[in-house]
Amino acid sequence: MTSADTTPPAPAHLAADDDWWRTAVIYQIYPRSFADSDGDGTGDLPGITARLDHLADLGVDALWLSPFYPSPQRDGGYDVADYRAVDPRYGTLADFDALLARAHTLGIRVVVDLVPNHCSSEHTAFRAALATAPGSPERDLFHFRDGRGPDGGLPPNDWTSMFEGPAWTRVTEADGRPGQWYLHLFDPGQPDWNWDNPAVRADFETTLRFWLDRGVDGFRVDVCDALVKADGLPDWPHPTHGVIEPVDGVMPPMWDQEGIHDIFRAWRKLLDSYDGHRILCAEAWLPPERAARIIRPDEMHQAFNFRFLETPWEPDALRAVIDESLTANDEVGAPTTWVLSNHDVMRHASRFGYDGPVALEHGVGADDPQPDRAAGLRRARAATALMLALPGSAYLYQGEELGLPEVTDLPDAARQDPVWERSGHRIRGRDGCRVPLPWTSQGPSFGFSDTPDTWLPQPSYYGPYAAESQRDDPDSTLHLYRGLLRLRRHHRLGTGELRWLSSPDGVLHFTNGAIEVMTNLTSQPVPLPPSRHVVIASAAVTDHVAPDTTVWLVRD
Ligand code: NOJ
Repeated sequence: MTSADTTPPAPAHLAADDDWWRTAVIYQIYPRSFADSDGDGTGDLPGITARLDHLADLGVDALWLSPFYPSPQRDGGYDVADYRAVDPRYGTLADFDALLARAHTLGIRVVVDLVPNHCSSEHTAFRAALATAPGSPERDLFHFRDGRGPDGGLPPNDWTSMFEGPAWTRVTEADGRPGQWYLHLFDPGQPDWNWDNPAVRADFETTLRFWLDRGVDGFRVDVCDALVKADGLPDWPHPTHGVIEPVDGVMPPMWDQEGIHDIFRAWRKLLDSYDGHRILCAEAWLPPERAARIIRPDEMHQAFNFRFLETPWEPDALRAVIDESLTANDEVGAPTTWVLSNHDVMRHASRFGYDGPVALEHGVGADDPQPDRAAGLRRARAATALMLALPGSAYLYQGEELGLPEVTDLPDAARQDPVWERSGHRIRGRDGCRVPLPWTSQGPSFGFSDTPDTWLPQPSYYGPYAAESQRDDPDSTLHLYRGLLRLRRHHRLGTGELRWLSSPDGVLHFTNGAIEVMTNLTSQPVPLPPSRHVVIASAAVTDHVAPDTTVWLVRD
């Protein structure tokens, strides 16, 4: 097996590479759980800066920071109270600047999270809206409506929140009486902005400029497909969760409305007025052909490929989604992105430890059926080796390079995901993929912090997963990721072209440039093709490729 110990050379001048985003491997940092510098049990920006060598060593091109803005943390920071500041729990603007400078020195670009669909109910604009009367300009920044029914006691429409329950909350007016309702597609602590109001558009442009002026390389745009709602906010008696499909050719009134594209075009112009090739990445749970419309040449640069992430460990389904994704994105001239894990879904090392489909965002409790950890990790390594051989750009989620499993035995009392309470303790939610990372095999919180009291408790079995435990082990998952990234860069797989080769049922077999890839999804070993040698593999290889293994080959 080939693995890499060399740190990839930093690009001499980041700004020189116009198309970096077409092939970039982008590493997601969830700041609360990456590294804690001040011993309060919550990760922070100086903690990240101190650990950036880990990312350079891994060989990623960019990092994406989930929100670090002031926030009551009702939804892990996706409830932003101030878009142009740093939450004191995470540090200061000076800490942000230091992080950015260090990353750039290491040749790593920095993408930050933009959360434009909703803010926090603690945002000054929403507090002002609450303090004013129905019909005020302050209320028009949000979606306030009178309720239905004789006393307005019913929500204005039938929309449900992504976190369960109605998507509307009734306010108490200044005179103490029950009043209007406001829309929140997520938690009540996350009121939706009204993007029909030009003041909202102007304010977000100010936010974009604020971070662009500081030197960020782009934005990952949270639920960007929800910004514009259909006129009149009509009822929608169909599902609105997961990857959103049209019903009878009509998109749900809260998703993927035509008006979103003008917003993205305006942002693209703004970004293009800056030097250095800054990018926009769309977070939108849409099928590839709908997501591709957001990344037409004058809109965003990339969109997450959630259809790929949702695909189970099945050869035909994987091949189909790879083809479908490449076709949809090729048509608009955009790179395809690949992603297997993020802070919203069960880690793929556990997801693939179940046979059959799993509810991605539902989480697992100690009393639920548990994944097969060994099978899950084996398949996760094979899946990552498959993903990193594909042309385009790829996203990694912190800890997957350590082979971290989902934490499936979190005490329910520790859970923070709002869906746990809002679902009446039916849906456990996403905390199991957000547990603070292990850096060292020993010590309080495995090197994450000086305190053992981390914001979510870590499991006792984390030691062998720690970065330190894996660093010098050639069989470790960390070693595998480093090797895959080095070879991917060396062979320019990001700009390559995928060509399928004929293969037995259950085996994915293709070339991308000089690299030939085989993923065995059957339960039997399959022979290696003759006159090839293995450059890297997700598990030990003989003259056969074992089940649940991916190999990269070159011709002798
Ligand atoms: C998507 C984010 O990734 C998720 O964590 C968040 O809960 C929702 N958007 C709402 O902002």
